[in-house]
Amino acid sequence: MTQVQEQPRTDLGTLRFPDGFRWGAATAAYQIEGAVAEDGRTPSIWDTFSHTPGRVHKGHTGNVACDHYHRSAADIALMQHLGLGTYRFSISWSRVRPDGNGPVNPRGLDFYDRLVDQLSAAGIQPMVTLYHWDLPQCLEDRGGWTSRETAQLFGDYALAVHKRLGDRVKTWTTLNEPWCSAFLGYASGDHAPGRRDPAAAFTAAHHLLLGHGLAAQALRSRGASEISISNILSPVVPRDPASGHDVAAATLVDGLHNRLFLDPVLRGGYPDDVIVVASRFTDLDFLRADDEEIIAEPVDILGVNYYQPTHVAARIGTPATAKFPGTEGVVFLPPNRPTTAMGWPIDADGLFGALTRMATDYPGTPMMVTENGAAFVDTVQGDRIADARRIEYFESHLRAAHRALGAGADLRGYLAWSLLDNFEWAYGYDQRFGLVYVDYATQKRLPKDSALWYRDVIASNSL
Ligand code: FCB
Repeated sequence: MTQVQEQPRTDLGTLRFPDGFRWGAATAAYQIEGAVAEDGRTPSIWDTFSHTPGRVHKGHTGNVACDHYHRSAADIALMQHLGLGTYRFSISWSRVRPDGNGPVNPRGLDFYDRLVDQLSAAGIQPMVTLYHWDLPQCLEDRGGWTSRETAQLFGDYALAVHKRLGDRVKTWTTLNEPWCSAFLGYASGDHAPGRRDPAAAFTAAHHLLLGHGLAAQALRSRGASEISISNILSPVVPRDPASGHDVAAATLVDGLHNRLFLDPVLRGGYPDDVIVVASRFTDLDFLRADDEEIIAEPVDILGVNYYQPTHVAARIGTPATAKFPGTEGVVFLPPNRPTTAMGWPIDADGLFGALTRMATDYPGTPMMVTENGAAFVDTVQGDRIADARRIEYFESHLRAAHRALGAGADLRGYLAWSLLDNFEWAYGYDQRFGLVYVDYATQKRLPKDSALWYRDVIASNSL
């Protein structure tokens, strides 16, 4: 294991988090595992996409990534050293059921079986995400998320994973950020499978949610105690709150980005305004009688992934061609404040807004921040990475989370994105979100100052 260097602490001990507050970090299978052709795994849509020239920055792929598949024991020792109480990771569907609808591959599950045992031995609670964007390519070839069969097969897959790990894993997340899967994957084409088809995006959104519902039912039938879904929530802010047009633009984008994925899960049905927008692109014939009831299977925890707010204004004049269907009359405004290396505005108030909005508009479901973090350019100086800006980022967002608790948000935990630098999807390896630096040439891990700072936050349960 990499030796953790001692660094001076910043001031701690002023803001206490509730007893039992869960602290941890998150990763995702394709972003860290590598070993893409081992133990029976077949390609996922991200293998295909990353191997297609022009899709991913510098042609980077997840072939090796952080080689976590072979280094999980050392990575867990690192987590233990940082004091993580919870580790959120995702399972690769292509390892578990390589042929899509064929038999379950026990060797694919062996890796996760060992991982869960190693985590438990280290006193770290495993939190499983069943789908973090890596659909088996063979299922994409049969229509992907535009096909209803994919939702059904997702329910079967959830059952198979629970059968193997359910005796040791308490917390189960069905989907990570279905907005990204549907709209980046099938509308803008920025993510795998890289399709640009508005009707397909709405169809995929529905089948993802249906898959969530079917998986939640399957997990419930097996007695899973904590079922969740993680949504990427972005408060949508109108340029001029006094302008009816700007406010309408913000409401529209909020519907397409946030409420489309919250209302069916937490309120039992799609929002009317979103149905009106979707009807411009599709006849909605994918919606069946009982679907909304299935999707509304109660969840025990709502995962909130927060990175940035969205600032919009109404477009004056002719509607433009839109990357995201339905937003032809909307202008997405550039950041008006400092940004991370991703170009994402740094705005901790947005996290406060997302959490308190949930508490007000969707009361009754406990929340966990299942992702929050930032990429900055990291410079290795000897055996140290002084990532002061990342510490500042985490600190401001944790203060916002604490403020949301005070304002009545039922927040149960916070997971940093990410444990390790990793394959940042279409941005490849140049964007580093890790608490721990990864030297991809040697696979050496080096905890950044932010990791040591976070360790102290966890140990003291306070800021
Ligand atoms: C989220 C993804 C995660 C990571 C972060 C930066 O949208 O869930 O995998 O890429 O963004």
